[in-house]
Amino acid sequence: MERKRWYKDMVFYQIWPRSFKDGNGDGMGDLWGVYEKLDYLKDLGIDGIWFSPIYPSPGADGGYDIADYMDIAPEFGGMEAFKKVLDGAHERGMKIVMDLVVNHTSDEHEWFQKSRQRIEPYTDYYIWRPARPDGKLPNNWDSNFEGAAWTWDEVRQEYYLHLFAIKQPDLNMDNPLVREEVKKILRFWLDMGVDGFREDVITYISKKDGLPDDHLFPIYKGMPNYNHGPRIHQYLQEFKEDVLDHYDCFTIAEAPLVSPKLALDYIDEENGQIDMMIQFQCQCADCLFTDYLPTPFDLRKMKQAFSSWQYKLKGRAWNALYIENHDHPRIVSRYGSEDFWKESAKMLCAMYLFQQGTPFVYQGQEIGMINWKPQSIDEYRDVQTIWNYHHSALHKSEEERLKRQWRSARDNARTPVQWSSENNAGFTTAETPWMNVNPNYTWLNAAQQEEDPDSILHFYRKAIALRKSLSCVRHGVYQEYRPLSGEHYIYSMEDDTQKILVVCSFCKRDSNFRSIKGFDLNTAQLILGNVDNPRTDLLKPYEVRVYLWNK
Ligand code: NOJ
Repeated sequence: MERKRWYKDMVFYQIWPRSFKDGNGDGMGDLWGVYEKLDYLKDLGIDGIWFSPIYPSPGADGGYDIADYMDIAPEFGGMEAFKKVLDGAHERGMKIVMDLVVNHTSDEHEWFQKSRQRIEPYTDYYIWRPARPDGKLPNNWDSNFEGAAWTWDEVRQEYYLHLFAIKQPDLNMDNPLVREEVKKILRFWLDMGVDGFREDVITYISKKDGLPDDHLFPIYKGMPNYNHGPRIHQYLQEFKEDVLDHYDCFTIAEAPLVSPKLALDYIDEENGQIDMMIQFQCQCADCLFTDYLPTPFDLRKMKQAFSSWQYKLKGRAWNALYIENHDHPRIVSRYGSEDFWKESAKMLCAMYLFQQGTPFVYQGQEIGMINWKPQSIDEYRDVQTIWNYHHSALHKSEEERLKRQWRSARDNARTPVQWSSENNAGFTTAETPWMNVNPNYTWLNAAQQEEDPDSILHFYRKAIALRKSLSCVRHGVYQEYRPLSGEHYIYSMEDDTQKILVVCSFCKRDSNFRSIKGFDLNTAQLILGNVDNPRTDLLKPYEVRVYLWNK
């Protein structure tokens, strides 16, 4: 059966469930809270929700350490709450996308518990290696979160591989039984009615034979030996043919270190194995490869990232558009400016929403939430942040190390969503939320923005509705202008019936704007803007304009 492409006309919203909305008053976000907010999402123009993991999990990595793939965590309301959300979403014409995390499980998963005891058929479900006579680890790979990628297991008397936290052992995808388990998981949720999967670090699932040492990579040593590994396409093809092709669903793959060229091997509409890709290039304009190695924001680098994906995928594959998710600090604090909070939040919204692809909005992004500055490391919850704080060789004093987290921590994006100026930002009625709220909720919250027609929230609503009304955005041709400008990002989208020009200023001061050849602003309609500015030849700080010409 031909797979439909309904996701091309949609805008998705990502929910990181612990911090979205607490519906039962225990201090932690849950699916009852999501159910309460379905109409809010619908009003925003959202057509589908991607849930970061909501399965039973010890929570060593915010739920990305799964202990049971075929259930919903009791703290999120269990299956009862999930079915309510699923039905509620479908009644509103919204899709539900689950996170498929199969590079690794939790060490508390039954498979791992049995594997460490060599109980069949689980003995080879994970990647085990004996101790070496020279006392060295099986190879020199680093984990992404907690030092070396190998941990000794006292029960089995062997090392197991974990590319992430110690409590996240990697599955052995070369074992056909493990691949059958993955297919069972896919079928289980698809049969229940879910509409797709976001596949967590899926490009890591096939490791190089022999797990060789890595002599190339200084950070996350080992990556070339497991990212885009030898059998990755074979395994993805198997999941597609055996399961996904039999359902009207879509997949979006998370892929660190991927260029558009490499991505096409996965997402080419002719013969790809998945539908869209979450690439990281758009997240690297103010860091080297990871937020933890910050560099000054470089607009040209950001533009180059967006443009190359637009140009190179055109006609061959479909982009996933995003500027925020649960793994990166807040975008206004990074590519925008907290000093021009409202202007820059709106500008960044329009900057990416009018490109070709399926946009994803991350919780709190639509109200312009910004980074968090807790006074102690004890307020952080993320395993990566806590490890980095304690092991940073670069930053010696406690203060320096804490400040680094203010800029780099994933927890910047994981504080509870600020619904109102009530206690705990209206996130929970409990005395203490599971994670502290950003104290700026008194002035930065959804209720206040609901009342203010000039708010970021209203701007998102308007921009999303506009996007959906413009055929050239979804199916037109992208063209960038003045790529070398260090002040502006300018692009057009054009189809047979219309064209738009999107002009974004990334300047903290007024800047001159020369009109673009072929775009007569006198004949255009200004369909979206974020500041009052009578002058067309000058852009205010962080101004954005979207012009439309109908043919
Ligand atoms: C990528 C996820 O987005 C991140 O949150 C998680 O920590 C790692 N994969 C490991 O699952």
